[in-house]
Amino acid sequence: MNEKELPEQLRDDNLSEETKTLISSLPSTKDFIGKLYNYQGCWYYPNTLQGVLNFQKGFKPQETDIIIASYPKSGTTWLKALTVALLERLKDISSSDALHPLQSDNPHGIVPFLEFGLYLKSSTPDLTKFSSPRLFSTHMPLHTLQIPFEDSPCKIVYVCRDVKDVLVSQWYFRCAYLQKELDKRLLESLFESLCNGVGYFGPFWEHVLSYWRGSLEYPKHVLFMRYEEMKSDPAVQVKRLAEFLGCPFTEEEEEEESGSVDKILELCSLRSLSSMEINKTGSKYDVHHSNYFRKGEVGDSKNHLTHEMENKINMIIEEKYKGSGFKY
Ligand code: A3P
Repeated sequence: MNEKELPEQLRDDNLSEETKTLISSLPSTKDFIGKLYNYQGCWYYPNTLQGVLNFQKGFKPQETDIIIASYPKSGTTWLKALTVALLERLKDISSSDALHPLQSDNPHGIVPFLEFGLYLKSSTPDLTKFSSPRLFSTHMPLHTLQIPFEDSPCKIVYVCRDVKDVLVSQWYFRCAYLQKELDKRLLESLFESLCNGVGYFGPFWEHVLSYWRGSLEYPKHVLFMRYEEMKSDPAVQVKRLAEFLGCPFTEEEEEEESGSVDKILELCSLRSLSSMEINKTGSKYDVHHSNYFRKGEVGDSKNHLTHEMENKINMIIEEKYKGSGFKY
């Protein structure tokens, strides 16, 4: 796959002169896709870095904004769908024939990314089509969002996932959009990058810790969710999410025969989303919609990583999270 065919956010053909000068002074590394640059402690491909800079220059949070945050392949699509479904149930839908938004667009179309979506090309994108609450998403670590929580009540929901499953999910995803067969060398390369802390939006540990600490410091603004808990106890987690977003389930809703919670979970299940026509066709961010859905299992990494790989990751995790209070 040549440079032109890479998703735009991974390329380097959209840089301002200012950014070209900046990146010439930044630490850099290379992986099988291209060059990554470290800015404010996080690694980005060049066009994404341009988007980060545009975002930092132009984004003004509004009181009611909701931002879905994650390290890539941690369950972003699912969390976006759940958030949309929770908010959508509050709307007075006059025509019951109307399609649910999740049936008309992929969750990434409804909840766009800030740095490599809206702000990729401009620091002043047109946000007028977003009605309150505006729903956005990001893969940037918390500190780089530069949101002054003291002045802005906007809310951030972060989803964290076992890094070993993230790694395997990334491998499948990248092979799919690079149109390559599953190649173990690619998995090994991703593993090395992860362990060296140089992956896209990494280091992974710093990413998680930025939101973990944020959730402790600003519990009204940052909700820390875990993919594994969403899988094992979805009803509890979706209620927790609804509470945090300020739209808890009412007693009537809880008492409904075919309960609202169950309906939302069913609508947003991997089976349901992946079988919707909209998710079988089309693409977003140069990625086919279907690539956002795979197995969605906890512990799939066991089928692909060697014991040595698992042990090395476990050792790094222990060291990196020591003293933080964060545990898997
Ligand atoms: P796997 O590759 O392990 O199957 P992201 O949305 O952050 O890109 O993460 C993608 C991962 O979430 C993939 O994991 C995908 O299958 C899983 N996923 C997508 N939609 C899901 C859903 N509705 N429920 C559970 N997991 C989902």
